[in-house]
Amino acid sequence: MANSVAAFTGSAVPKLIAPPAAALPGPGEVRCKTLMLGICGTDRDILESTSPVCPDDSEFLVLGHECLACVEEVGAEVTECEPGDLVVPAVRRPRQPENPNSGQIRRRVDMVPWGNYVERGIVAEHGFSLPVWIDRPEFLFPVSSEIKDVAVLAEPISVSEKAVREAEQIQNARLDDEWQRRAPRVLVTGLGPIAFAAAIVCRARDWPVTMYGRDDPDSFRAGLVTNFDCNYVHEGAYSWTLADVEQDGFDLVLECTGNDFVMMQAASTLASCGILVWEGSTRLPQPCQHNVAEIMRAGILRNHIYLGTVNNAPVDMGRALEHLVSLRPRYGSAIRQLVTRQVSVDESLWHYQSREPQGVKTVVIFD
Ligand code: BGC
Repeated sequence: MANSVAAFTGSAVPKLIAPPAAALPGPGEVRCKTLMLGICGTDRDILESTSPVCPDDSEFLVLGHECLACVEEVGAEVTECEPGDLVVPAVRRPRQPENPNSGQIRRRVDMVPWGNYVERGIVAEHGFSLPVWIDRPEFLFPVSSEIKDVAVLAEPISVSEKAVREAEQIQNARLDDEWQRRAPRVLVTGLGPIAFAAAIVCRARDWPVTMYGRDDPDSFRAGLVTNFDCNYVHEGAYSWTLADVEQDGFDLVLECTGNDFVMMQAASTLASCGILVWEGSTRLPQPCQHNVAEIMRAGILRNHIYLGTVNNAPVDMGRALEHLVSLRPRYGSAIRQLVTRQVSVDESLWHYQSREPQGVKTVVIFD
């Protein structure tokens, strides 16, 4: 049965393959069954690059890193979970065996440099586009059954949660409790899954959010922005030139387009002590002319911070799952609307290469 999706070296086309035979879990291991899998820009980037980072012994990489799974069987020494539990797996893990010469002293695997980690479905380890797979309990996060329908979104939400939590921690370190006393004004650029994830984690904090996008104001995605009680500004109608940046600007910009032009313009809206977080990027950056000196000047005079973040810490995954529970009464239906398409594994191939015009998240359903 060919029901795994894999990327092969030298090809931009995803292929259906027969999954490797399911192993039995060892004493400290867990066997999980994939229920749902989100498709994301990273999957498309891996394919487009035609050079997936495959596991050492493999000529392909099984895709899939945004997963909701069910525990099927646990080894004799596992006490953390039991068959029937719903779980979301961590993407990044320390590379084994650890390189003894790496000089690595960081505790958090989301903070270590390239070469010291693997990412399931992305870097050197097969992902979760598999009917069943083996893992260790420390990489599995328990999911409450009330959010089973949307828990597959926890991973991308955790990535934005890290971005916002880090900005918050930096601000607490230099401005004490200013963001608790007066909610930061947030700008999110983009209307993709990470942008909506960014809006969700800010709305969970009750912060006012403006989302900037290219879609018409009467489009589905612009409507979704308002369903999250965010303000939508449309490319065609928005002027980046603010008369008074302190009064009309933003304290936190979450850049989710990966577009350097948008980023430069968004940077010009940062009020004093503002933070701009890079959450998106292009895989093959091209040289371009921008007035970087301008953002350097404003950055110094206004104490700005530019912050890049990737992946998540365990606390971020935990909080992402909590947000999905606590926001359910208010935004449950808006969150469900982020899943704009559900497909079978066979139908998913098109979605691994293309995006639907008003699509946010395509989810692959495993039976
Ligand atoms: C994933 C992250 C991962 C990053 C870089 C994103 O799509 O959500 O978990 O760290 O790609 O590989």
